[in-house]
Amino acid sequence: MGRQRRRALLAVLALAGVLTLAACGARGAGAGGNAAGGETFTIKFSHVVTPATPKGQAADKFKEVVEQRSGGRITVEVYPNSELYGDKDELQALQSNSVQMLAPASAKFTTIAPALQVLDLPFLFDSVDDIPAVVSPDSPAGRAIYENEALATNNIKVIGLWDNGLKQLSSNTEMRTPDSLAGLSFRIQPSDVLRSQFEKWGASSTPMAFSEVYNALQQGVVNGQENPYSNIESQNMHTVQSHITESNHGYIGYVLVINNQFLESLPADLQTIVRESAGEASTHNREVAAKLNEEAKATIQQAGTTQILELTPEERKAFRDRVVPSVWQQYADVIGPDLVNDLLAQQNAQ
Ligand code: LMR
Repeated sequence: MGRQRRRALLAVLALAGVLTLAACGARGAGAGGNAAGGETFTIKFSHVVTPATPKGQAADKFKEVVEQRSGGRITVEVYPNSELYGDKDELQALQSNSVQMLAPASAKFTTIAPALQVLDLPFLFDSVDDIPAVVSPDSPAGRAIYENEALATNNIKVIGLWDNGLKQLSSNTEMRTPDSLAGLSFRIQPSDVLRSQFEKWGASSTPMAFSEVYNALQQGVVNGQENPYSNIESQNMHTVQSHITESNHGYIGYVLVINNQFLESLPADLQTIVRESAGEASTHNREVAAKLNEEAKATIQQAGTTQILELTPEERKAFRDRVVPSVWQQYADVIGPDLVNDLLAQQNAQ
């Protein structure tokens, strides 16, 4: 081979190498190949609770449905219990595509999308039966979350709304009236609405990552916290809290999110599979949430560590009157005045 032909051949080979590398890079972090040459994708799904909770079970359901429907073209790796990322870094990990999916509670979005605090409004629900009418993809609150512009700007796409039912108060003091909270300190999720709620009850609050709550309670860094029974029981919080007040005062709603660029990089049929599987996992979540919380309550009762106080309607009203409508009105501008008025009208109509 003459020198010129060899040079030309080397140049062609080098160009081919560059093009191959560029093609691999363009497929994105979640993509790979399989033996048959078809493209495969991996979704890393990180969350902060145990697999036994309503969110944990829904995440596992999502994995099962996606993998089955995609015939193995998508693999979902679920990382529970803050083992990969926790409250402090999971949203950043989502935006940088280090993970592709999360389902944080609404309060965790406060810095990026403060309007999502709509789900943190105290006494948004009287019972779990009221949840589907207020929070669904087609309800005004649901639409405000799906269409939130701040999330879109941050490359975050909402593909589902999950829940964990209603929150109870726990501490080492009997809490029958709002006044009995005076002077106590509570761990909260990082939400201004939640800070104001405890302020109105005369208590102080400290935002803290979920994975740190058990230790903080055990060591007395804070006196109490608020969560549904399933979170209290699965983190063993009841073993270091002598009292629970069944106040059903707030809601833990999860916003199922995916890195939008990743979603759009998937072939169209796989995008559909991801969206439909998210819908199926949402249905599963709603089916199991109430049952899992009842079971967790029973486990706490059997443990005998914690006295559970069920408030009478009048006692519950005393907690409610301190925060509704005052906290709702305080955050109307953040959440959207029309939405807050709409929700208040719905409450008054009940
Ligand atoms: C909390 O931080 O208390 C909850 O949001 C945890 C969770 O994801 O249920």
